[in-house]
Parts: sequence; C-alpha cells; structure tokens
Amino acid sequence: MTSDSDQQNLRPPPHVLIFPMPVQGHLNSMLNLSHLFCLAEFDVTFIISDFSHRRLLQHTTVASTFARYPGFQFRTFPDGLPEDHPRSGHRAMEFMSSVKNVTVPLFKEMMIQENFLASATRRPVTCFLADGLLSFAADFCEENGLPLICFRTATTSYFWALFRFPQLLQAQEIPFQGKSMDKLIESIPAMEGFLRKRDLPSFYRVDDLNDPVLKEVIAVTMLIKRAQVAIFNTCEELEGQIVAEIRKHVPRVFSIGPIHEQVKYRLTEKKAESSIITASLWEEDRSCINWLDMQAPKSVIYVSFGSLALVTRDQVLELLHGLLDSSHRFLWVMRPDSITGSDGEDPVPAELKEHVKGKGLLVEWAPQENVLNHPAVGGFLTHSGWNSTLESIAAGVPMVCWPYFADQTTNSRFVSEVWKIGLDIKDTCDRKTIEKAIRDLMEVRKDEFIERAENLAKLVKMTVSEGGSSYNNLDGLIQYIKSLVIWLCIANGINWY
Ligand code: UDX
Repeated sequence: MTSDSDQQNLRPPPHVLIFPMPVQGHLNSMLNLSHLFCLAEFDVTFIISDFSHRRLLQHTTVASTFARYPGFQFRTFPDGLPEDHPRSGHRAMEFMSSVKNVTVPLFKEMMIQENFLASATRRPVTCFLADGLLSFAADFCEENGLPLICFRTATTSYFWALFRFPQLLQAQEIPFQGKSMDKLIESIPAMEGFLRKRDLPSFYRVDDLNDPVLKEVIAVTMLIKRAQVAIFNTCEELEGQIVAEIRKHVPRVFSIGPIHEQVKYRLTEKKAESSIITASLWEEDRSCINWLDMQAPKSVIYVSFGSLALVTRDQVLELLHGLLDSSHRFLWVMRPDSITGSDGEDPVPAELKEHVKGKGLLVEWAPQENVLNHPAVGGFLTHSGWNSTLESIAAGVPMVCWPYFADQTTNSRFVSEVWKIGLDIKDTCDRKTIEKAIRDLMEVRKDEFIERAENLAKLVKMTVSEGGSSYNNLDGLIQYIKSLVIWLCIANGINWY
C-alpha cells in the first residue's frame, strides 16, 4: 500500500497553460510567475505572439533560463496585427480584438489537434491561467471542464474601480464628462475619502458609457466571477483592504506580489542556478549604468513612461525644460516609437542638446530594475504603469507620477495619497509644475519621501520572504493547483498514482 506522501511524490506535476496579452507589461509578470511555477516543478505551456517571442529571444536570457526546466515550453501564434503596427499608445487596445479574432481561434485549433486536455503522451492541462483581459477564457474553460485562474496584471484597486461600474452608474458618479474632476467618489468601498473622479481608471473618461472600449473593459472585468481563482500582482501591505473586498466576489484570491521580488527570494531560497528574467522586448542600453556609476548618490531622476505610452513633441519639450530648470541630473528613456507630432524630426531641438549633454542622458530602453536599484537614482518620473510602480516601491525610490492611461490614473493617486511616497501631477504638463515637483521630490521634501519609500520597500520585501503574506499566498496557490491534478485525473479517468 502507498502512503499519502508516497502518492504525492508519484502524482504527476500540474501542467499550467498560461496565456498573457502579448504586451510588455503583461509578459513580465506572467513570465516571472511561470518561473515560480517551474521552481515548484510544474509543467508550463506559455502562449506568446510570434512578434514578442522573436524579440524576447533577441534581447533577453529567457531562452537559456527556461532551458533549465524541461517541463516549460513556449507555443507561438500570430498576434493578428500587421508587422508595422505600432502596438503602443491607444492603438494598444487593438490587441484586444486582434488576439480575439486571430490568436484565439488558432490556439483553440492547437488544443484540439494536439489533444492538450487529455493526451496520453503529454501531461493533460491542469488549469488555464489566463490574462484577465482575455474575454474567451471563461467560456473556453466551462466548455472544456477546465479550472480558470484569472490573472489581472494591473493594480487591484484599478480592477475594483472597474468592478464597481454598476454602483458608480447607479450613484450617478459616471459619466462625469470632464466635470468636477476633483470631486470625491463615494461608491467604491475602501477608496472613499481619497479617490477623485480624476483618479478613476482612464477608461471612465468618456461622455458616452456605450463607448466600445469601456464596454469591453467592463465586460472582461466581470468575467472574474466565473473564475475559480484570481491572482493579483500586489500584496496585503499595499492593497490589503481592496483585496479583502474582492474576496467577497471570487472563491479564491491570491495576492502574490511583487512577483519580481518573489522570484528573487525563491531563487535564493532554493539556491537555484537559474537567473532572474528580464523580459524586455527592446534592447537594453547598459551604457547608462556606467553613466550612473559616475553620479553622486540619490542625485539622478530616472524618467520613463513604460512600453505603451505616447508623448507629444510639445510634452517632451515641457518635460525637458522642467527637468533642466530643476537643475537635477536625469536619465530619460525615450523610446523612438513613443513621440508623436515630431514628423521624423529629432524630438530634442538642437539648441537644447548641449544643455542635455551636461545634465542628462537619453537612452532608447534601459535595464530598468538595475537603474532603479542603482545608488545614484533618487527619484523616478514615471507614467505609473503597475510594473514600474512596483519596481520603484521595491527599490525604495520615490516617484513623480505623470499617468498616461488605464490603471495609471488610479496608481498615481495611491502613490501620493495612500502610500505617500511621491507626487501626482496628472492632467498637467507645463515646465513650471514639472520643475517644482522634481525639486520637491529631490530637495524640499526629499528626506520624508525617502524615509517612507525605504520603509515601504522593507515591507514589500518582507511580504515575499518566508512567513510573509505574499510568500504564503504563493504557497497556497501552488497547493491549490496541485490539488486540481487529482480531481482532473479522476474526471478524465486517468490513473493519478
Ligand atoms: C501597461 C500598464 O501601464 C500597466 O499598468 C499594466 O499593468 C500593464 O500594461 P506599461 O505601460 O508598459 O504596461 O508599463 P509598466 O507596467 O510599468 O511596464 C513596463 C515594464 O517595462 C517595466 O517592467 C519596466 O521595468 C520595463 N522597462 C521600461 C524596461 O525594462 N526598460 C525601460 O527602459 C522601460
């Protein structure tokens, strides 16, 4: 007779099928989560677009990292967009329909052709871990009797603000049509008292609630009610009250972030030889680290607006003047495809080039985590994308927030009013405001911001360490997925021991 522990050892490892939206900010956390599953000895199939896969192979160590885990495989599909599509700015939302219309049918075809769900040659899929933006996931799982794990890569507060759409509507807090933007919102529990209309997810900034993008975003948000599990890249220390609200609506909610810190901790704990993944879709310009090495401690402001945001040439000029007038040194990531309205002209006029040379460095893409953890960096002028915000929090770097869209309008409010580790200058872009915000962050209120940011960094590092809530939640998630193996084997008539 076999004992319970023998049976656990004999049981096949779970096989998690992971399908992210093929954009930078989603791939990072999904690949890091895959790494955590590989460390738990799970099999992982990772669905990715040809476009992103090619770039990952070109610019990162993803291939060699995952080569250590024989149970991991990439499966690639077209993303449905033409090669020259910008895949950024508001046009990034086109991913929603192109993935739905092109990638998903091909993915479903593969599932049938290769008998992914119950193949005798391959381990059957245990569960489907889908990006929370994939509208087909709930139907697909229900049709195939597959447990659905929904992963929302943005903030929990953003998700919660979307989930409360019916209550916002009933309370006539939307549509607000650009009026009284500083009025506090009352119908989102756990956010009363600080969230203004201005801070709601940017998709609410429409005159007509039938706006197709808003409708789609709300529809995918509500699908979480059909998931068995929801995962958020956050922690109790950052958004505990909001996670508690979501627990009232979804059977199991695991906050396991910051995931990139969780990977670092688990790699060290397991003394694993594999390295941390940087999932950059662009080539990192590492010369900026040499430049930072020559700067004084906490003297440089790092400027980056992530992978999707677009900036007009006029905004570039205001930002640049603000930075130069602040007299602080800066390192600015200026993605070539991120500037609009320059008609091919250099976004930095010749007369400013000399000033920039003395004070700052412009690069096209940086090794952001290394930059944020560099001793020379004292502040971050950011678009408040969730990965950037988490990376800055974990590095203890205070922020000036200049949000672009989606969750960023909400994240920036949390930075300034909840965690109090920075300033929020949303909806403005003039050189005076920018100069003042940078001076406040880097000089006038420097000590208070640094003290709070460093304390918060300690807290989030503790949450992913043994005994911390994110650490325990990841263990809980791993145990839950393991328990599904038995259930699915029985359901499919497969001997599981
Ligand atoms: C978007 C949303 O803004 C974000 O809030 C959502 O959760 C996911 O999609 P993005 O706009 O790209 O993502 O911002 P962000 O979430 O901050 O992700 C950008 C990533 O690119 C970060 O992990 C950052 O480290 C990385 N990056 C950015 C670099 O590695 N180098 C750079 O030069 C700039």
